[in-house]
Amino acid sequence: MLPNVVTGWERIEFRSMTIGFVILCVSFLMFLKKKKGKLPPGPKPLPLLGNLHQLDTKDLVKSLKELNNKYGPVFTIYLGPRPNVILYGYQAVREALVEQAEDFSGRGEFPAFHNFTQGNGIAFSNGEKWKLLRRFALVTLRNFGMGKRSVEERIQEEAQFMLEEFRNTKQKPFDPTFFLSRAVSNVICSIVFGNRLEYEDKRFLSLLHLINDNFQVVSSGWGTLYNTFPGIMNHLPGPHHRIFKNLVKLKQFVLENVTDHEKTFQPDCPRDFIDCFLIKIQKEKGNPTSSFNMETLVMTSLNLFFGGTETVSTTLRYGILILIKYPDITEKVHQEIDKVIGRNRCPTVEDRSKMPYTDAVIHEIQRFTSIISLNLPHAVIRDTQFRSYYLPKGTNVLPVITSVHNDTEKFKDPQTFNPENFLDENNRFKNNEAFMPFSTGKRICLGEGLARMEIFIFLTTFLQNLTFKPTVPPDEIDLTPSISGVGNVPPIYQLRVIPR
Ligand code: HEM
Ligand SMILES: *[C@@H]1O[C@H](CO)[C@@H](O)[C@H](O)[C@H]1NC(C)=O
Ligand SMILES: *[C@@H]1O[C@H](CO)[C@@H](O)[C@H](O)[C@H]1NC(C)=O
Ligand SMILES: *[C@@H]1O[C@H](CO)[C@@H](O)[C@H](O)[C@H]1NC(C)=O
Ligand SMILES: *[C@@H]1O[C@H](CO)[C@@H](O)[C@H](O)[C@H]1NC(C)=O
Repeated sequence: MLPNVVTGWERIEFRSMTIGFVILCVSFLMFLKKKKGKLPPGPKPLPLLGNLHQLDTKDLVKSLKELNNKYGPVFTIYLGPRPNVILYGYQAVREALVEQAEDFSGRGEFPAFHNFTQGNGIAFSNGEKWKLLRRFALVTLRNFGMGKRSVEERIQEEAQFMLEEFRNTKQKPFDPTFFLSRAVSNVICSIVFGNRLEYEDKRFLSLLHLINDNFQVVSSGWGTLYNTFPGIMNHLPGPHHRIFKNLVKLKQFVLENVTDHEKTFQPDCPRDFIDCFLIKIQKEKGNPTSSFNMETLVMTSLNLFFGGTETVSTTLRYGILILIKYPDITEKVHQEIDKVIGRNRCPTVEDRSKMPYTDAVIHEIQRFTSIISLNLPHAVIRDTQFRSYYLPKGTNVLPVITSVHNDTEKFKDPQTFNPENFLDENNRFKNNEAFMPFSTGKRICLGEGLARMEIFIFLTTFLQNLTFKPTVPPDEIDLTPSISGVGNVPPIYQLRVIPR
Protein backbone atom coordinates (compact mmCIF):
# COMPACT_ATOMS: atom_id res chain seq x y z
CA MET A 1 0.00 0.00 0.00
CA LEU A 2 2.58 2.38 1.18
CA PRO A 3 4.77 2.19 -1.91
CA ASN A 4 1.72 2.91 -4.06
CA VAL A 5 0.96 6.08 -2.14
CA VAL A 6 4.51 7.17 -2.58
CA THR A 7 4.29 6.51 -6.29
CA GLY A 8 1.10 8.58 -6.38
CA TRP A 9 2.85 11.48 -4.76
CA GLU A 10 5.74 11.05 -7.08
CA ARG A 11 3.38 11.08 -10.03
CA ILE A 12 1.72 14.26 -8.80
CA GLU A 13 5.10 15.83 -8.19
CA PHE A 14 6.30 14.80 -11.62
CA ARG A 15 3.18 16.20 -13.22
CA SER A 16 3.53 19.55 -11.47
CA MET A 17 7.19 19.68 -12.42
CA THR A 18 6.21 19.10 -16.03
CA ILE A 19 3.58 21.81 -15.87
CA GLY A 20 6.10 24.11 -14.18
CA PHE A 21 8.62 23.39 -16.90
CA VAL A 22 6.14 24.03 -19.66
CA ILE A 23 5.10 27.32 -18.05
CA LEU A 24 8.73 28.27 -17.75
CA CYS A 25 9.38 27.48 -21.41
CA VAL A 26 6.33 29.36 -22.60
CA SER A 27 7.15 32.44 -20.58
CA PHE A 28 10.76 32.28 -21.78
CA LEU A 29 9.55 32.14 -25.38
CA MET A 30 7.17 35.01 -24.72
CA PHE A 31 10.03 36.92 -23.16
CA LEU A 32 12.17 36.27 -26.22
CA LYS A 33 9.36 37.29 -28.51
CA LYS A 34 8.74 40.43 -26.48
CA LYS A 35 12.43 41.18 -26.46
CA LYS A 36 12.65 40.66 -30.20
CA GLY A 37 9.38 42.46 -30.81
CA LYS A 38 8.63 43.77 -34.27
CA LEU A 39 9.28 46.65 -36.59
CA PRO A 40 7.67 50.00 -35.76
CA PRO A 41 4.08 50.51 -37.01
CA GLY A 42 3.22 52.01 -40.36
CA PRO A 43 0.82 51.96 -43.26
CA LYS A 44 -0.03 48.53 -44.67
CA PRO A 45 2.25 47.73 -47.61
CA LEU A 46 1.14 46.09 -50.84
CA PRO A 47 3.20 43.18 -52.17
CA LEU A 48 6.09 44.43 -54.35
CA LEU A 49 4.95 48.07 -54.32
CA GLY A 50 5.24 48.51 -50.59
CA ASN A 51 3.80 51.86 -49.58
CA LEU A 52 4.72 53.61 -52.79
CA HIS A 53 1.08 54.30 -53.65
CA GLN A 54 0.73 56.20 -50.34
CA LEU A 55 3.81 58.38 -50.84
CA ASP A 56 4.37 61.45 -52.94
CA THR A 57 7.68 60.56 -54.59
CA LYS A 58 8.12 64.18 -55.65
CA ASP A 59 7.86 65.38 -52.06
CA LEU A 60 8.78 62.57 -49.68
CA VAL A 61 9.33 65.05 -46.85
CA LYS A 62 5.67 66.06 -46.99
CA SER A 63 4.45 62.45 -47.06
CA LEU A 64 6.62 61.60 -44.07
CA LYS A 65 5.17 64.55 -42.16
CA GLU A 66 1.66 63.15 -42.72
CA LEU A 67 2.69 59.66 -41.63
CA ASN A 68 4.32 61.14 -38.52
CA ASN A 69 0.98 62.68 -37.56
CA LYS A 70 -0.61 59.27 -37.79
CA TYR A 71 2.07 56.94 -36.43
CA GLY A 72 4.28 59.06 -34.18
CA PRO A 73 8.06 59.64 -34.22
CA VAL A 74 9.14 56.09 -35.17
CA PHE A 75 7.43 54.31 -38.04
CA THR A 76 8.08 51.95 -40.93
CA ILE A 77 7.44 52.47 -44.62
CA TYR A 78 8.11 49.95 -47.33
CA LEU A 79 9.88 51.25 -50.41
CA GLY A 80 9.16 48.34 -52.67
CA PRO A 81 9.77 45.17 -50.68
CA ARG A 82 12.30 46.84 -48.35
CA PRO A 83 11.28 48.23 -44.93
CA ASN A 84 12.68 51.63 -43.95
CA VAL A 85 12.41 52.75 -40.36
CA ILE A 86 11.77 56.49 -40.24
CA LEU A 87 13.00 58.54 -37.28
CA TYR A 88 11.04 61.75 -37.10
CA GLY A 89 11.86 64.64 -34.74
CA TYR A 90 14.78 65.43 -32.45
CA GLN A 91 14.19 62.90 -29.68
CA ALA A 92 14.01 59.79 -31.85
CA VAL A 93 16.97 60.83 -34.03
CA ARG A 94 19.09 61.55 -30.98
CA GLU A 95 18.21 58.30 -29.22
CA ALA A 96 19.26 56.31 -32.27
CA LEU A 97 22.28 58.17 -33.68
CA VAL A 98 23.79 59.34 -30.38
CA GLU A 99 22.62 57.04 -27.60
CA GLN A 100 22.82 53.88 -29.74
CA ALA A 101 25.50 55.27 -32.01
CA GLU A 102 27.28 52.02 -32.82
CA ASP A 103 24.06 50.11 -33.63
CA PHE A 104 22.94 52.79 -36.09
CA SER A 105 26.34 53.49 -37.69
CA GLY A 106 25.77 51.48 -40.89
CA ARG A 107 25.10 53.00 -44.29
CA GLY A 108 21.76 51.88 -45.69
CA GLU A 109 21.06 50.81 -49.24
CA PHE A 110 21.08 53.68 -51.67
CA PRO A 111 20.96 52.04 -55.10
CA ALA A 112 21.35 55.31 -57.04
CA PHE A 113 24.91 55.56 -55.72
CA HIS A 114 25.59 51.99 -54.77
CA ASN A 115 25.18 50.87 -58.35
CA PHE A 116 28.20 53.02 -59.11
CA THR A 117 30.44 53.12 -56.06
CA GLN A 118 30.02 49.40 -55.28
CA GLY A 119 30.67 50.32 -51.66
CA ASN A 120 34.12 51.68 -52.39
CA GLY A 121 34.11 55.29 -51.16
CA ILE A 122 33.58 56.57 -47.62
CA ALA A 123 29.99 57.65 -47.94
CA PHE A 124 28.59 54.35 -49.21
CA SER A 125 30.84 51.76 -47.59
CA ASN A 126 30.39 49.78 -44.40
CA GLY A 127 32.32 47.80 -41.80
CA GLU A 128 36.08 47.80 -41.49
CA LYS A 129 36.60 49.36 -44.93
CA TRP A 130 34.45 52.36 -43.98
CA LYS A 131 36.24 52.81 -40.63
CA LEU A 132 39.69 52.75 -42.21
CA LEU A 133 38.83 55.04 -45.14
CA ARG A 134 37.02 57.51 -42.91
CA ARG A 135 39.84 57.69 -40.37
CA PHE A 136 42.43 58.09 -43.09
CA ALA A 137 40.49 60.90 -44.78
CA LEU A 138 39.89 62.77 -41.52
CA VAL A 139 43.55 62.66 -40.53
CA THR A 140 44.74 63.61 -44.01
CA LEU A 141 42.33 66.53 -44.33
CA ARG A 142 43.37 67.75 -40.89
CA ASN A 143 47.05 67.58 -41.83
CA PHE A 144 46.42 69.70 -44.90
CA GLY A 145 44.75 72.27 -42.70
CA MET A 146 47.95 72.58 -40.72
CA GLY A 147 50.39 72.58 -43.60
CA LYS A 148 52.32 75.58 -44.75
CA ARG A 149 49.35 77.00 -46.54
CA SER A 150 46.27 76.50 -44.46
CA VAL A 151 42.86 75.66 -45.81
CA GLU A 152 41.68 78.95 -44.36
CA GLU A 153 44.06 80.87 -46.61
CA ARG A 154 42.87 78.93 -49.63
CA ILE A 155 39.28 79.87 -48.84
CA GLN A 156 40.18 83.53 -48.34
CA GLU A 157 42.03 83.61 -51.63
CA GLU A 158 39.17 81.92 -53.47
CA ALA A 159 36.65 84.34 -51.96
CA GLN A 160 38.64 87.24 -53.43
CA PHE A 161 38.68 85.57 -56.87
CA MET A 162 34.94 85.19 -56.67
CA LEU A 163 34.44 88.83 -55.67
CA GLU A 164 36.28 89.79 -58.84
CA GLU A 165 33.99 87.53 -60.80
CA PHE A 166 30.89 89.04 -59.17
CA ARG A 167 32.21 92.47 -59.95
CA ASN A 168 32.56 91.55 -63.63
CA THR A 169 28.79 91.16 -63.83
CA LYS A 170 28.67 94.98 -63.92
CA GLN A 171 25.56 95.17 -61.74
CA LYS A 172 23.54 93.20 -64.30
CA PRO A 173 21.20 90.38 -63.15
CA PHE A 174 22.71 86.88 -63.15
CA ASP A 175 22.10 83.40 -61.77
CA PRO A 176 24.76 82.77 -59.08
CA THR A 177 24.71 78.95 -59.26
CA PHE A 178 27.95 78.27 -61.11
CA PHE A 179 29.77 81.31 -59.75
CA LEU A 180 29.36 79.83 -56.31
CA SER A 181 30.04 76.22 -57.22
CA ARG A 182 33.26 77.04 -59.08
CA ALA A 183 34.65 78.91 -56.08
CA VAL A 184 33.51 76.32 -53.54
CA SER A 185 34.70 73.42 -55.66
CA ASN A 186 38.14 74.99 -56.02
CA VAL A 187 38.69 74.67 -52.27
CA ILE A 188 38.16 70.91 -52.26
CA CYS A 189 39.92 70.54 -55.64
CA SER A 190 43.05 72.12 -54.28
CA ILE A 191 43.00 69.80 -51.26
CA VAL A 192 42.24 66.61 -53.22
CA PHE A 193 43.82 67.23 -56.66
CA GLY A 194 46.43 69.79 -55.66
CA ASN A 195 45.29 72.80 -57.68
CA ARG A 196 42.46 75.19 -58.16
CA LEU A 197 41.02 75.45 -61.67
CA GLU A 198 40.47 78.60 -63.69
CA TYR A 199 36.87 79.80 -63.78
CA GLU A 200 37.07 79.90 -67.60
CA ASP A 201 38.12 76.24 -67.78
CA LYS A 202 35.40 74.61 -69.93
CA ARG A 203 36.00 71.13 -68.52
CA PHE A 204 35.69 72.44 -64.96
CA LEU A 205 32.33 74.02 -65.72
CA SER A 206 31.06 70.86 -67.38
CA LEU A 207 32.08 68.76 -64.35
CA LEU A 208 30.15 71.14 -62.11
CA HIS A 209 27.12 70.83 -64.37
CA LEU A 210 27.29 67.05 -63.94
CA ILE A 211 27.46 67.32 -60.14
CA ASN A 212 24.62 69.84 -60.04
CA ASP A 213 22.49 67.69 -62.33
CA ASN A 214 23.05 64.61 -60.16
CA PHE A 215 22.04 66.40 -56.98
CA GLN A 216 18.80 67.42 -58.70
CA VAL A 217 17.96 64.08 -60.30
CA VAL A 218 18.75 62.10 -57.15
CA SER A 219 16.53 64.47 -55.13
CA SER A 220 13.68 64.25 -57.63
CA GLY A 221 10.89 61.68 -57.84
CA TRP A 222 13.00 59.74 -60.38
CA GLY A 223 15.77 59.33 -57.81
CA THR A 224 13.27 58.00 -55.29
CA LEU A 225 11.81 55.59 -57.85
CA TYR A 226 15.27 54.35 -58.79
CA ASN A 227 16.17 53.80 -55.14
CA THR A 228 12.94 51.87 -54.67
CA PHE A 229 13.01 49.67 -57.78
CA PRO A 230 16.56 49.65 -59.13
CA GLY A 231 15.97 46.34 -60.92
CA ILE A 232 12.95 47.58 -62.85
CA MET A 233 14.12 51.15 -63.35
CA ASN A 234 17.34 49.95 -64.98
CA HIS A 235 15.12 48.81 -67.86
CA LEU A 236 12.78 51.81 -68.03
CA PRO A 237 13.63 55.05 -69.78
CA GLY A 238 13.84 58.27 -67.76
CA PRO A 239 16.18 60.95 -66.46
CA HIS A 240 17.52 58.62 -63.75
CA HIS A 241 19.92 57.14 -66.32
CA ARG A 242 21.71 60.48 -66.31
CA ILE A 243 22.86 59.74 -62.74
CA PHE A 244 25.14 56.99 -64.03
CA LYS A 245 26.18 58.72 -67.24
CA ASN A 246 27.23 61.72 -65.16
CA LEU A 247 29.05 59.60 -62.61
CA VAL A 248 30.96 57.78 -65.32
CA LYS A 249 32.24 61.11 -66.66
CA LEU A 250 33.13 62.37 -63.20
CA LYS A 251 34.98 59.15 -62.49
CA GLN A 252 36.85 59.51 -65.76
CA PHE A 253 38.13 62.92 -64.64
CA VAL A 254 39.24 61.60 -61.26
CA LEU A 255 40.89 58.57 -62.82
CA GLU A 256 42.90 60.66 -65.28
CA ASN A 257 43.95 62.92 -62.48
CA VAL A 258 45.07 59.98 -60.33
CA THR A 259 47.02 58.48 -63.22
CA ASP A 260 48.79 61.79 -63.69
CA HIS A 261 49.60 61.91 -59.96
CA GLU A 262 51.08 58.41 -60.09
CA LYS A 263 53.55 59.52 -62.77
CA THR A 264 54.78 62.57 -60.92
CA PHE A 265 54.51 61.95 -57.21
CA GLN A 266 57.39 61.77 -54.74
CA PRO A 267 56.64 59.71 -51.63
CA ASP A 268 58.58 62.02 -49.33
CA CYS A 269 56.75 65.10 -50.47
CA PRO A 270 52.99 64.59 -50.85
CA ARG A 271 51.25 67.49 -52.60
CA ASP A 272 47.64 66.67 -51.86
CA PHE A 273 45.10 64.07 -50.72
CA ILE A 274 45.68 61.82 -53.74
CA ASP A 275 49.44 61.70 -53.10
CA CYS A 276 48.82 60.73 -49.48
CA PHE A 277 46.50 57.95 -50.61
CA LEU A 278 49.07 56.67 -53.12
CA ILE A 279 51.64 56.49 -50.31
CA LYS A 280 49.17 54.54 -48.19
CA ILE A 281 48.59 52.10 -51.08
CA GLN A 282 52.35 51.54 -51.37
CA LYS A 283 52.67 50.93 -47.63
CA GLU A 284 49.95 48.29 -47.78
CA LYS A 285 51.22 46.55 -50.92
CA GLY A 286 51.83 43.26 -49.09
CA ASN A 287 48.31 43.09 -47.66
CA PRO A 288 45.91 41.41 -50.11
CA THR A 289 42.81 42.49 -48.13
CA SER A 290 43.88 46.12 -47.83
CA SER A 291 41.11 48.73 -48.10
CA PHE A 292 43.51 51.06 -49.89
CA ASN A 293 43.56 50.40 -53.61
CA MET A 294 42.87 52.19 -56.90
CA GLU A 295 39.14 51.67 -56.71
CA THR A 296 38.79 53.07 -53.16
CA LEU A 297 41.15 55.93 -54.03
CA VAL A 298 39.02 56.98 -56.98
CA MET A 299 35.71 56.64 -55.16
CA THR A 300 36.94 58.40 -52.02
CA SER A 301 38.26 61.30 -54.09
CA LEU A 302 34.96 61.44 -55.93
CA ASN A 303 33.03 61.45 -52.60
CA LEU A 304 35.10 64.42 -51.44
CA PHE A 305 34.82 66.25 -54.76
CA PHE A 306 31.04 65.74 -54.96
CA GLY A 307 30.33 66.14 -51.23
CA GLY A 308 32.61 69.13 -50.98
CA THR A 309 31.08 70.97 -53.92
CA GLU A 310 27.32 70.73 -54.15
CA THR A 311 26.39 70.96 -50.46
CA VAL A 312 28.33 74.11 -49.61
CA SER A 313 27.47 75.88 -52.84
CA THR A 314 23.76 75.04 -52.50
CA THR A 315 23.85 76.37 -48.92
CA LEU A 316 25.39 79.64 -50.14
CA ARG A 317 22.98 79.92 -53.05
CA TYR A 318 19.98 79.34 -50.80
CA GLY A 319 21.46 81.61 -48.13
CA ILE A 320 21.89 84.52 -50.53
CA LEU A 321 18.26 84.14 -51.66
CA ILE A 322 17.19 84.40 -48.02
CA LEU A 323 19.42 87.44 -47.49
CA ILE A 324 17.87 89.30 -50.41
CA LYS A 325 14.41 88.46 -49.16
CA TYR A 326 15.17 89.91 -45.72
CA PRO A 327 17.17 93.13 -46.25
CA ASP A 328 16.82 94.16 -42.58
CA ILE A 329 18.56 91.03 -41.40
CA THR A 330 21.24 91.48 -44.06
CA GLU A 331 21.81 95.06 -42.98
CA LYS A 332 22.55 93.90 -39.44
CA VAL A 333 25.15 91.48 -40.81
CA HIS A 334 26.75 94.31 -42.83
CA GLN A 335 26.92 96.39 -39.66
CA GLU A 336 28.48 93.63 -37.60
CA ILE A 337 31.10 93.06 -40.30
CA ASP A 338 31.95 96.77 -40.34
CA LYS A 339 32.21 96.82 -36.55
CA VAL A 340 34.28 93.68 -36.03
CA ILE A 341 36.30 93.27 -39.25
CA GLY A 342 36.15 96.68 -40.91
CA ARG A 343 36.94 97.16 -44.56
CA ASN A 344 40.71 96.88 -44.56
CA ARG A 345 41.37 93.19 -44.06
CA CYS A 346 39.89 89.83 -45.07
CA PRO A 347 37.54 87.96 -42.72
CA THR A 348 39.12 85.07 -40.80
CA VAL A 349 37.59 82.14 -38.94
CA GLU A 350 38.65 83.76 -35.68
CA ASP A 351 36.22 86.62 -36.29
CA ARG A 352 33.27 84.27 -35.98
CA SER A 353 33.30 84.12 -32.18
CA LYS A 354 33.05 87.90 -32.08
CA MET A 355 30.14 87.98 -34.52
CA PRO A 356 27.16 86.38 -32.78
CA TYR A 357 24.56 87.86 -35.11
CA THR A 358 26.28 86.68 -38.29
CA ASP A 359 26.88 83.28 -36.71
CA ALA A 360 23.19 83.06 -35.79
CA VAL A 361 22.14 84.01 -39.34
CA ILE A 362 24.37 81.29 -40.80
CA HIS A 363 23.04 78.68 -38.38
CA GLU A 364 19.50 79.75 -39.20
CA ILE A 365 20.22 79.47 -42.93
CA GLN A 366 21.44 75.90 -42.42
CA ARG A 367 18.51 75.01 -40.17
CA PHE A 368 15.87 76.58 -42.36
CA THR A 369 17.15 75.13 -45.64
CA SER A 370 18.13 71.64 -44.39
CA ILE A 371 20.09 71.06 -47.59
CA ILE A 372 20.35 67.28 -47.08
CA SER A 373 16.73 67.20 -46.01
CA LEU A 374 16.16 63.46 -45.65
CA ASN A 375 19.74 62.61 -44.60
CA LEU A 376 21.63 59.74 -46.22
CA PRO A 377 20.11 56.37 -45.27
CA HIS A 378 21.56 54.56 -42.28
CA ALA A 379 21.29 50.86 -41.39
CA VAL A 380 21.61 48.95 -38.13
CA ILE A 381 24.84 46.94 -38.14
CA ARG A 382 23.44 44.20 -35.87
CA ASP A 383 20.07 43.06 -34.52
CA THR A 384 18.94 46.10 -32.57
CA GLN A 385 16.42 46.75 -29.86
CA PHE A 386 15.14 50.33 -30.22
CA ARG A 387 12.48 51.61 -27.86
CA SER A 388 9.97 48.74 -27.87
CA TYR A 389 10.86 47.65 -31.40
CA TYR A 390 13.18 45.13 -32.89
CA LEU A 391 15.22 45.99 -35.99
CA PRO A 392 16.97 43.02 -37.63
CA LYS A 393 20.57 43.58 -38.73
CA GLY A 394 20.74 45.52 -42.00
CA THR A 395 17.36 47.28 -41.68
CA ASN A 396 17.42 50.67 -43.42
CA VAL A 397 16.90 53.65 -41.12
CA LEU A 398 16.21 57.22 -42.17
CA PRO A 399 16.90 59.87 -39.50
CA VAL A 400 15.07 62.78 -41.16
CA ILE A 401 17.05 66.02 -40.76
CA THR A 402 14.20 68.37 -41.74
CA SER A 403 12.05 66.84 -39.03
CA VAL A 404 14.67 67.70 -36.41
CA HIS A 405 14.98 71.25 -37.73
CA ASN A 406 11.19 71.55 -37.79
CA ASP A 407 10.66 70.19 -34.26
CA THR A 408 8.34 72.55 -32.40
CA GLU A 409 9.72 71.39 -29.06
CA LYS A 410 13.13 72.70 -30.06
CA PHE A 411 12.36 75.72 -32.24
CA LYS A 412 9.63 78.26 -31.77
CA ASP A 413 7.71 78.66 -35.02
CA PRO A 414 10.14 76.59 -37.12
CA GLN A 415 8.48 77.49 -40.42
CA THR A 416 9.73 81.08 -40.24
CA PHE A 417 13.27 82.24 -40.86
CA ASN A 418 14.40 83.75 -37.59
CA PRO A 419 18.06 84.20 -36.51
CA GLU A 420 16.84 84.62 -32.93
CA ASN A 421 16.59 80.85 -32.79
CA PHE A 422 20.34 81.05 -32.16
CA LEU A 423 20.58 84.14 -29.91
CA ASP A 424 19.98 84.46 -26.18
CA GLU A 425 18.27 87.42 -24.50
CA ASN A 426 21.59 89.31 -24.41
CA ASN A 427 22.13 88.76 -28.13
CA ARG A 428 24.92 86.31 -27.52
CA PHE A 429 25.20 83.28 -29.75
CA LYS A 430 23.23 80.34 -28.38
CA ASN A 431 23.56 76.87 -29.83
CA ASN A 432 20.64 74.47 -30.07
CA GLU A 433 21.15 70.72 -29.68
CA ALA A 434 18.59 70.15 -32.45
CA PHE A 435 20.80 71.93 -34.99
CA MET A 436 22.14 69.09 -37.15
CA PRO A 437 22.49 69.95 -40.84
CA PHE A 438 25.53 67.64 -40.89
CA SER A 439 23.59 64.86 -39.14
CA THR A 440 25.03 63.45 -35.90
CA GLY A 441 26.65 60.33 -34.49
CA LYS A 442 29.29 58.13 -36.10
CA ARG A 443 28.39 59.00 -39.68
CA ILE A 444 28.33 62.75 -39.09
CA CYS A 445 29.48 64.65 -42.17
CA LEU A 446 33.20 64.31 -42.58
CA GLY A 447 33.53 67.79 -44.04
CA GLU A 448 31.69 69.68 -41.30
CA GLY A 449 34.67 71.76 -40.15
CA LEU A 450 35.66 72.64 -43.70
CA ALA A 451 32.09 73.45 -44.70
CA ARG A 452 31.52 75.77 -41.73
CA MET A 453 34.76 77.60 -42.45
CA GLU A 454 33.80 78.05 -46.09
CA ILE A 455 30.27 79.28 -45.44
CA PHE A 456 31.48 81.85 -42.91
CA ILE A 457 34.40 83.22 -44.93
CA PHE A 458 32.58 83.29 -48.28
CA LEU A 459 29.48 85.02 -46.91
CA THR A 460 31.31 87.60 -44.81
CA THR A 461 33.73 88.39 -47.64
CA PHE A 462 30.80 89.03 -50.01
CA LEU A 463 28.90 91.18 -47.55
CA GLN A 464 32.04 93.12 -46.65
CA ASN A 465 32.54 94.21 -50.25
CA LEU A 466 29.11 94.01 -51.91
CA THR A 467 25.41 94.49 -51.52
CA PHE A 468 23.08 91.85 -52.97
CA LYS A 469 20.01 93.19 -54.75
CA PRO A 470 16.93 91.19 -55.79
CA THR A 471 15.44 91.52 -59.28
CA VAL A 472 11.88 91.25 -57.93
CA PRO A 473 10.30 92.87 -54.84
CA PRO A 474 11.58 90.95 -51.76
CA ASP A 475 8.02 90.07 -50.70
CA GLU A 476 7.56 88.12 -53.89
CA ILE A 477 10.56 85.88 -53.25
CA ASP A 478 9.30 82.36 -52.51
CA LEU A 479 11.71 80.30 -50.43
CA THR A 480 9.99 76.96 -51.07
CA PRO A 481 12.49 74.46 -52.50
CA SER A 482 12.03 73.70 -56.20
CA ILE A 483 12.91 70.05 -55.58
CA SER A 484 12.71 68.27 -52.25
CA GLY A 485 13.94 64.73 -51.75
CA VAL A 486 17.27 63.55 -50.39
CA GLY A 487 18.28 67.16 -50.91
CA ASN A 488 16.48 70.50 -50.93
CA VAL A 489 17.17 72.45 -54.11
CA PRO A 490 16.46 76.20 -53.96
CA PRO A 491 14.31 77.84 -56.65
CA ILE A 492 16.21 79.29 -59.61
CA TYR A 493 16.71 83.03 -59.21
CA GLN A 494 18.75 85.98 -60.37
CA LEU A 495 20.30 88.82 -58.43
CA ARG A 496 22.47 91.89 -58.93
CA VAL A 497 25.57 92.78 -56.95
CA ILE A 498 26.53 96.39 -56.22
CA PRO A 499 29.88 97.40 -54.75
CA ARG A 500 29.53 98.83 -51.23
C1 HEM B 1 26.93 72.62 -45.93
C2 HEM B 1 27.70 71.62 -46.29
C3 HEM B 1 27.45 70.16 -45.99
C4 HEM B 1 26.33 69.54 -45.51
C5 HEM B 1 24.99 70.17 -45.13
C6 HEM B 1 26.65 68.13 -45.42
C7 HEM B 1 25.79 67.16 -44.93
C8 HEM B 1 26.09 65.84 -44.83
C9 HEM B 1 25.19 64.83 -44.32
C10 HEM B 1 23.78 65.09 -43.82
C11 HEM B 1 25.83 63.63 -44.39
C12 HEM B 1 25.26 62.27 -44.00
C13 HEM B 1 25.54 62.00 -42.55
C14 HEM B 1 24.94 60.71 -42.06
O1 HEM B 1 24.96 59.70 -42.79
O2 HEM B 1 24.43 60.67 -40.93
C15 HEM B 1 27.15 63.88 -44.92
C16 HEM B 1 28.10 62.89 -45.12
C17 HEM B 1 29.33 63.13 -45.72
N1 HEM B 1 29.84 64.35 -46.11
FE1 HEM B 1 28.93 66.16 -45.91
N2 HEM B 1 27.94 67.93 -45.86
C18 HEM B 1 28.46 69.14 -46.20
C19 HEM B 1 29.74 69.38 -46.67
C20 HEM B 1 30.69 68.42 -46.93
C21 HEM B 1 32.04 68.70 -47.38
C22 HEM B 1 32.65 70.07 -47.61
C23 HEM B 1 32.65 67.48 -47.57
C24 HEM B 1 34.05 67.18 -48.06
C25 HEM B 1 35.10 67.39 -47.41
C26 HEM B 1 31.69 66.46 -47.18
C27 HEM B 1 31.93 65.10 -47.20
C28 HEM B 1 31.08 64.14 -46.68
C29 HEM B 1 31.39 62.72 -46.64
C30 HEM B 1 32.65 62.05 -47.16
C31 HEM B 1 30.29 62.09 -46.03
C32 HEM B 1 30.12 60.60 -45.73
C33 HEM B 1 30.45 60.30 -44.29
C34 HEM B 1 30.27 58.85 -43.89
O3 HEM B 1 29.44 58.15 -44.50
O4 HEM B 1 30.98 58.39 -42.99
N3 HEM B 1 30.52 67.07 -46.81
N4 HEM B 1 27.29 65.23 -45.19
C1 LIG C 1 43.93 67.35 -61.84
O1 LIG C 1 43.11 68.33 -61.23
C2 LIG C 1 43.73 69.62 -61.06
C3 LIG C 1 42.68 70.54 -60.49
O2 LIG C 1 42.43 70.37 -59.16
C4 LIG C 1 44.21 70.18 -62.37
O3 LIG C 1 44.95 71.35 -62.13
C5 LIG C 1 45.05 69.16 -63.10
O4 LIG C 1 45.34 69.66 -64.39
C6 LIG C 1 44.32 67.84 -63.22
N1 LIG C 1 45.15 66.89 -63.91
C7 LIG C 1 44.70 66.15 -64.93
C8 LIG C 1 45.70 65.23 -65.54
O5 LIG C 1 43.56 66.21 -65.31
C1 LIG D 1 23.59 50.13 -62.87
O1 LIG D 1 22.85 51.00 -63.72
C2 LIG D 1 23.00 50.76 -65.11
C3 LIG D 1 22.27 51.83 -65.88
O2 LIG D 1 20.96 51.98 -65.49
C4 LIG D 1 22.49 49.35 -65.41
O3 LIG D 1 22.65 49.07 -66.78
C5 LIG D 1 23.25 48.33 -64.56
O4 LIG D 1 22.70 47.07 -64.74
C6 LIG D 1 23.16 48.69 -63.08
N1 LIG D 1 23.99 47.79 -62.30
C7 LIG D 1 23.56 47.23 -61.19
C8 LIG D 1 24.55 46.37 -60.47
O5 LIG D 1 22.43 47.43 -60.74
C1 LIG E 1 37.18 93.41 -50.51
O1 LIG E 1 37.44 94.17 -49.35
C2 LIG E 1 38.70 93.95 -48.74
C3 LIG E 1 38.74 94.78 -47.49
O2 LIG E 1 38.52 96.12 -47.80
C4 LIG E 1 39.83 94.32 -49.71
O3 LIG E 1 41.07 94.00 -49.11
C5 LIG E 1 39.64 93.53 -50.99
O4 LIG E 1 40.58 93.94 -51.95
C6 LIG E 1 38.25 93.69 -51.56
N1 LIG E 1 38.13 92.76 -52.65
C7 LIG E 1 37.93 93.14 -53.90
C8 LIG E 1 37.90 92.06 -54.91
O5 LIG E 1 37.79 94.29 -54.19
C1 LIG F 1 6.92 71.73 -40.12
O1 LIG F 1 5.96 71.83 -39.09
C2 LIG F 1 4.79 72.56 -39.43
C3 LIG F 1 3.89 72.62 -38.24
O2 LIG F 1 4.60 72.71 -37.07
C4 LIG F 1 4.09 71.90 -40.60
O3 LIG F 1 3.01 72.69 -41.02
C5 LIG F 1 5.07 71.74 -41.76
O4 LIG F 1 4.47 71.00 -42.80
C6 LIG F 1 6.33 71.04 -41.32
N1 LIG F 1 7.26 71.00 -42.41
C7 LIG F 1 8.02 69.96 -42.68
C8 LIG F 1 8.92 70.08 -43.85
O5 LIG F 1 8.00 68.94 -42.02
